[in-house]
Amino acid sequence: MTTTTHTPTAKPAYTRPSLLRHRSGLMNKMGTQPSLTPTEAIDGVPVETLVEAYGSPLFVYSQRTIEHRYRALRDELARRYPKVQPAWSYKTCYLDAVCRVYHKEGAWAETVSGMEVNKALRNGVPMHKVVFNGPHKEDAALLAALKGGALVNIDHFDELARIEQLSKIHGLFPQVGIRLNMATGTTPRWDRFGFNLDNGQAWDAVRRLTAGGRMSLRGLHAHFGTFVLDADNYRIGASKVAAFANRLRTELGITLEYLDLGGGFASKNRLKSQYLPGEQVTPSLAQYAEALTKGLADLDYPAHELPTLITETGRGLIDEAGTLITTVIANKRLADGRRAVVVDAGVNLLYTAFWYNFEVETTAPVHGVPEPTVIFGPLCMNIDVVREHIMLPALPVGTRLLIRPVGAYAVTQSMQFIHLRPAVTMIGLDGQHGVIKSAETLDDLVRGEVVPDWVEGAASVPGVEPTAPTPRAQTVALPRLTGALPSLTGATPAVGPDGRLH
Ligand SMILES: Cc1ncc(COP(=O)(O)O)c(C=O)c1O
Repeated sequence: MTTTTHTPTAKPAYTRPSLLRHRSGLMNKMGTQPSLTPTEAIDGVPVETLVEAYGSPLFVYSQRTIEHRYRALRDELARRYPKVQPAWSYKTCYLDAVCRVYHKEGAWAETVSGMEVNKALRNGVPMHKVVFNGPHKEDAALLAALKGGALVNIDHFDELARIEQLSKIHGLFPQVGIRLNMATGTTPRWDRFGFNLDNGQAWDAVRRLTAGGRMSLRGLHAHFGTFVLDADNYRIGASKVAAFANRLRTELGITLEYLDLGGGFASKNRLKSQYLPGEQVTPSLAQYAEALTKGLADLDYPAHELPTLITETGRGLIDEAGTLITTVIANKRLADGRRAVVVDAGVNLLYTAFWYNFEVETTAPVHGVPEPTVIFGPLCMNIDVVREHIMLPALPVGTRLLIRPVGAYAVTQSMQFIHLRPAVTMIGLDGQHGVIKSAETLDDLVRGEVVPDWVEGAASVPGVEPTAPTPRAQTVALPRLTGALPSLTGATPAVGPDGRLH
């Protein structure tokens, strides 16, 4: 028989009730809040100093982050594989200043069009350090690349035939690479570019290439996907490429000079489909390097003949180096009750907003109760949404926001639609800062536009007198607004000769 003993419980100690100030950034039933701890400076430079100098919106690149990430990737690879050569993926951001930071660090150039090849050459990259990929290599660029010894990776059979034709006409015997695609576990399957490895097409391409008697094979290229969150896909891909290289060597006697295993590493950005933030799910550069080189361990090559591992990582190197400063220009209440803020940067500058939920940070403390908010850009267009849903307190007009990471693709994919594009700046290693691409002007916009005589001369609209063409001098130079937004109350601000509001 059991007996139960009861010990008298002590009376709980009295706790004074307290009121806790509601701070955004904490978890509540609406889900994780964005951190609204203000970020006042970028690489030590106050955001307000940057806006004073260059206006809002404004792209800001951090040279320190660019160099840090590049060195990290190079070192993680070099630690695991003896011959490594990173190439900078131009399309990810081909501003000269950015490219030159990478080239100064030793990166080659990975290009996908004649324009990019020319940009790389202008940046001082010799042709034999240019990787030329892409499905459409224009004839002039292709010929120059073949003559100059660029690493030309063939994308399809028609290109193969064209190179052969060009080679015959110009008496060339080029060494080329071919691009491969294969199942590595990424979804959607990345099989649009290159020759398929799994179904034998890649093998056929090599046979066709060598049978022509004009070209020889020097390398293989595979870009396994983009924003690949599972590093193991690289192990699978690299292992398949290694097996193919082994077969080429044993069956056709081809010893390859390079394996270019693409980019595709995810940044810490957050895809709309992604539940957890990038901080938690994005593999580190070390994990990607580990996976790639583990797959390459299947190469059956003597050590002194191992092919060089080329990488052409874009986003994974530069995304975190880029910030877009934007300013709240209006608050709204939508018909469904949601709060909306309108900012001065939209999908014209962040095409990438269609698939990312960017981090949004303030630069000064903001107060108030966070509510579901939609952030609209300044375009007169319904699809101009920077964030569809974010918990934010009321943000007064003039509040600065930092949107990041935006270093990858945002600048190269930005468009001039309704608004002129803003300046792009870089902060140097010692905190110096400057413009790396000027803000666009109306003259930039109309450069190249032509009004034909027959349009100019026609009095076509009934009742409307034809006017003389508007000479350039008559266009009014609108000052670029910098600094704090003027108060909406009180005297109308005047624009001074320095273009600033007084
Ligand atoms: C051939 C090639 N290489 C490199 C890259 C860079 O990719 P990521 O920015 O995902 O690293 C791309 C981008 O799509 C590409 O198409």
